[in-house]
Amino acid sequence: MEGLCHHYRFLIVTLVLLSGLRQSYSSTTTRQFEFNIEWKKLTRLCHTKPLLTVNGEYPGPTIAVHEGDHVEVKVTNRVAMNTTIHWHGIRQLRSAWADGPAYITQCPIRGGQSYTYNFTVIDQRGTLLWHAHYGWQRASLYGAFIIYPRMPYPFSVPIQSEVPIIFGEWWNGDVDAVENEMMLYGGGPNSSDAYTINGLPGPLYPCSKKDTFIQTVERGKTYLFRIINAALNDELFFAIANHTLTVVEADAVYTKPFTTRAIMVAPGQTTNVLVTANQFPDSSGMFVMAAKPYVTAIFPFDNSTTAGFLKYQSTRTGKIEAPTLPTNLAVHNLPEMKDTVYATTFSKMLRSLATPEYPCNVPKKIDKRVITTVSLNLQDCPANKTCKGFSGKRFFASMNNQSFVRPFKSVLESHYKNLTNVEFSSDFPEKPPTAFDYTGVDPFTGNMNTEFGTKLLVVPYGTNMEIVLQGTSFLNTENHPIHVHGHNFFVVGSGFGNFDVAKDPAKYNLVDPPERNTVPVPTGGWAAIRLKADNPGVWFIHCHLEEHTSWGLAMVLIVKNGIGQSQSLLPPPKDLPLC
Ligand code: C2O
Repeated sequence: MEGLCHHYRFLIVTLVLLSGLRQSYSSTTTRQFEFNIEWKKLTRLCHTKPLLTVNGEYPGPTIAVHEGDHVEVKVTNRVAMNTTIHWHGIRQLRSAWADGPAYITQCPIRGGQSYTYNFTVIDQRGTLLWHAHYGWQRASLYGAFIIYPRMPYPFSVPIQSEVPIIFGEWWNGDVDAVENEMMLYGGGPNSSDAYTINGLPGPLYPCSKKDTFIQTVERGKTYLFRIINAALNDELFFAIANHTLTVVEADAVYTKPFTTRAIMVAPGQTTNVLVTANQFPDSSGMFVMAAKPYVTAIFPFDNSTTAGFLKYQSTRTGKIEAPTLPTNLAVHNLPEMKDTVYATTFSKMLRSLATPEYPCNVPKKIDKRVITTVSLNLQDCPANKTCKGFSGKRFFASMNNQSFVRPFKSVLESHYKNLTNVEFSSDFPEKPPTAFDYTGVDPFTGNMNTEFGTKLLVVPYGTNMEIVLQGTSFLNTENHPIHVHGHNFFVVGSGFGNFDVAKDPAKYNLVDPPERNTVPVPTGGWAAIRLKADNPGVWFIHCHLEEHTSWGLAMVLIVKNGIGQSQSLLPPPKDLPLC
């Protein structure tokens, strides 16, 4: 296990904890990492371009720690652009200062400056990811974040080895320009040119055969695949030819194991699966693995497929040079790109383990229910402006018809100084401002304008919340992966059409709903999530499709301090970047 990260620069300092974080820990370890943000020239699909990287690596270095460890990552920005890094799914209990989203919990790290992210991994284990949280920088600034458990895995199969599988997107051109262009004219962004597995697009793209991910396996052995979707704008299906996948964990929470031919993984989500090498390969020795998008939008998208291989170790010795690829690259296990039925059935299979060791602490009673639309918008074009969205207008996106306007100071700092009421407004609508047939409006004729603001939703410490995320049919219905910072939540219900407060809650799963940090809200439907707001601080809630975040599909949740230090936000670190 340690072999995964031994070549990255880190020191281990063991500290004796006077008061254990959990009773079972008698000591904790501090793990230190250094992240240098730097340009690196890279070639994919025969296009060479400078890529924003951490330590020159693409994907970036894996962070591997143990449950209970204290983590310090010193991020030094060596480029002439702002940046921040987010530890996606790490709860950041009381340490919101280390969460990372730009202008939400910190001002950006400017060129030449550094900031040390300081946090403890408490009661979490499994696969997560880290990524830049500034503009579209996570196009290349991302990597795996692995938390090894203190207790053995709850599945009994012996694991031969662990394989991180990180999906990303590659643009031949400059990603920053893609974002700028779309924000300037309000049109849809250019699609990526390739999907990648561990930074490699694979043989189905032009000029890309040599950039193919190959995992060697031994017949009869079982492997733990840690699958991460770090793509910007696309949900993905993933499958391996002839092999089944046994899902055992999602978003760093164990699930009841189930076997499937393919998984759907949305940007920001992670899924651990067991793969047993129990097939007989042909003379190539290989089986294809592939990921392609699950698509619900009518917008142009990258409809390509990234492929890699499982290579069965041959008993013959001797060097095998450039691998001969199997002639058949079809992965029959992969669903069709528009297979919403498959995506839905898959989501419904996910269940919490819900055992005494790994309980499912879903709030049974709620103190507050918030119902919010998650929507695209089509804004009238301002006079004398060029708009390149549909019918000469411009695209935006919103929650409860509030398109989130990114502030230019840190909301967390403002909150810490008790200034949010002066600098922002704490009146994010707790239900849609006007009720309508959310998923039944004609997608092209209704008034699809939105309002703009930086409105906050403020709740007391410990509030048991339910948030109903309601999709709309503005422009088109689309699946939105909604991510909540600082908290895991339970997906207690979901469905198509409009949420019905009188009928749907009766059908909730309050026994073993999946616990996640990112939920794909069904296309033309809704999802209900529950969480205990027990992490004081300022938390971004947003669509993890980066184009939708850019258009404003986001909001901010503030959880106030509770009683005493253990329920209060820590003071800001000394090196917190200033705006
Ligand atoms: Cu993975 Cu706010 O992000």
